[in-house]
Amino acid sequence: MTSNNEDSFNSITSISELRKIVQQARLSGKKIGVVPTMGALHAGHLSLIQEALARTDIVVVTLFVNPTQFSPDEDFGNYPRPVEEDLKKCKEAGAHLVFHPDVSEIYPEDAYTTVSVNTISEKLEGQFRPTHFDGVTTVVMKLFNIVLPDVAFFGQKDYQQQLLIKRMVKDLNVPVEVIACPTIRDPDGLAMSSRNQYLSKQERETALLVPESLKLAEKMLLDGEEDFDKIKDAMKKLLTSSDEVKVDYVSLAHPETLEELKQVQPEIVALVATYVGSTRLIDNRIIHLSSISSNQ
Ligand code: PAF
Repeated sequence: MTSNNEDSFNSITSISELRKIVQQARLSGKKIGVVPTMGALHAGHLSLIQEALARTDIVVVTLFVNPTQFSPDEDFGNYPRPVEEDLKKCKEAGAHLVFHPDVSEIYPEDAYTTVSVNTISEKLEGQFRPTHFDGVTTVVMKLFNIVLPDVAFFGQKDYQQQLLIKRMVKDLNVPVEVIACPTIRDPDGLAMSSRNQYLSKQERETALLVPESLKLAEKMLLDGEEDFDKIKDAMKKLLTSSDEVKVDYVSLAHPETLEELKQVQPEIVALVATYVGSTRLIDNRIIHLSSISSNQ
C-alpha cells in the first residue's frame, strides 16, 4: 500500500489491502460508495466524487484503464494516465481511498468468464464497438466484487453504459445501488470527456456541433416535429456541416430499452456518436415532451 500521512486518504494498488480497509469501514457501520473511472480525471469525475461524498461515508475512486473494453485498433496504449495528478485531485476532492491497480492485479491470468448484458449492449455503441461493453460490464462487476460498495456512481454522459450497468445489477441481483449523475459540460456546452484533450484547437470548436445537434433535436421535437427521420437527417446535416466530422450514429431512442423510436412519447433520449478528426465523441440529451401522454 502507498499511503500519505493523513489517515483519511489512502492510495492502494492491491486487492487484498483494499478489501481489508473497506471491510473495517463496513464493520464500523460506514456506507461505502465507489466511483469507477479510467483516470485522467476532469470536473465530470469530480462531480461524481462530490455526489458520492454526499450520499455515502467512505468514497473509493478506482483508476483503471481497462484493456478489455478497448479493441486492438483503439487508444488503449495512448489513453492518458496522469496517475499522480489524479491522486492529487481525488485527495483534494475529499475521496477516502483510491484504488489504482496494475492490469496484472485485475487480470492475473486468462479468464474464462465475462459478464455480458445482451440486447441493449448490441445497439448504438455496440454496433461500432462490438467487444466494448462486455469489457465494461466484466470489469465493473469485478470492481463491485472487489470493493463491495453500497452505492456506485456513473456519469450519464455514457448513457448506454449506465443503463447496462443498472440492468446487470438488476438481472444478477448485485446488492449495489447504481446512481447516474448529470453530464458536466464546459461553459460552451461540450460534454467533459478525458478524450477531449486529443482535440486540436480547431477540432475543439468543431466538437460543439455535437451538443448543438442534440439541442436541435430537442428544439424540433418541442416545436412539434413528429417525423423522426427528418429530425435525424437535420442532426446529421448539422454535424457534417464540418468536413472534420464523421457520424457513427444519431439516435432518438426509448430511454430504457434504447429501441429506435418512430413516434413521440413523453421522454426521448437523443444520442450521438461521431469522430471529430480522429477523436471519437459521444453525447446525449434527455428530451421531455411534457404535453405528450404515454399511451399516445
Ligand atoms: O466510464 C468509464 O470510465 C469506464 O467505462 C468504467 C466504467 C470505469 C469501466 O472501465
